[in-house]
Amino acid sequence: MSHIRLENVSKVFDASPAEANKVLKLLAQGMSSSEVREKTGYSVGLYDINLSIEAGELHCIMGLSGSGKSTLVRHINRLIDPTQGKIWIDTQYSVGVPTYLQDAEQLSKQPNIINVLSLSDKPLQQFRQNNVSMVFQHFGLVPHMTVIQNVAYGLRVRKMAKSERHEIARHWLHEVGLDGIEYSYPDELSGGMQQRVGLARALAVDTPIILMDEAFSALDPLIRAQLQAQLLQLQDRLNKTIVFITHDIDEAAGFGGQISILNGGRLVQTGSIDELRTNPADAYVERFMVAKG
Ligand SMILES: Nc1ncnc2c1ncn2[C@@H]1O[C@H](COP(=O)(O)OP(=O)(O)OP(=O)(O)O)[C@@H](O)[C@H]1O
Ligand SMILES: [Mg+2]
Repeated sequence: MSHIRLENVSKVFDASPAEANKVLKLLAQGMSSSEVREKTGYSVGLYDINLSIEAGELHCIMGLSGSGKSTLVRHINRLIDPTQGKIWIDTQYSVGVPTYLQDAEQLSKQPNIINVLSLSDKPLQQFRQNNVSMVFQHFGLVPHMTVIQNVAYGLRVRKMAKSERHEIARHWLHEVGLDGIEYSYPDELSGGMQQRVGLARALAVDTPIILMDEAFSALDPLIRAQLQAQLLQLQDRLNKTIVFITHDIDEAAGFGGQISILNGGRLVQTGSIDELRTNPADAYVERFMVAKG
């Protein structure tokens, strides 16, 4: 099975189950999310998403603003609970022993594959620590912590001794090209450097899944290109499963993997850049393929 699989995932924000059901019926009849919002006032994040992401893939999610990219990615570590559907994660790649398996709905005959929605609070925390890290558009570093404390933070949460976690943090800072700034504070660094710290922090915890929500979008083009190249180099060696949200078709094409296109909360097409260019599912996908930046 895939590393990550979303099965019939829909999200209607802030609706009671009965109201959400009505909204889902309208969507099933073919009504668009903007029509639904006009008619019912409810905001549709996603509708009936089926998506499989293989282990070691760098999978891009694209779509216009409001198309559901962040909503989709946040379902993977359950920062958002869906209205409907299941989110299966293969925990065989987990860091450490997945102690939460027994607490979860397991795929029959493949007990290491769990439905993340079945986890209660504590096991969910454990699941997140062992499986998923995030890199944010605006870096999300803790301002009163030094660079090394930021990078080592996830390991501290795992109760790793200070000398050990700082050694690992130093290693990853070196890997992303940042030596000698361990004791600086985030606001003393450029945006590009802060995002390298963000990347080092995600790599230090060694989770098999990294979610990157427009991680490079706030950077100027040159620094952005450097970080894209660096991510590809690291990925070559590390084989993480990376879900990367971007607005930029050139960025997605440069990564060379699968690209999923969202429109109004629906998944319109998944394919390689060549497949999308030569055989776009509709005019929306086609427009994306020619748009720059
Ligand atoms: N917490 C929320 N409450 C209500 N509606 C929400 C919430 N979060 C997102 N939405 C709505 O869900 C839809 C998808 O939003 P989402 O943030 O996933 O889009 P996006 O593709 O990430 O957009 P952007 O490119 O601007 O980041 C939008 O219509 C948005 O208004
Ligand atoms: Mg977003």
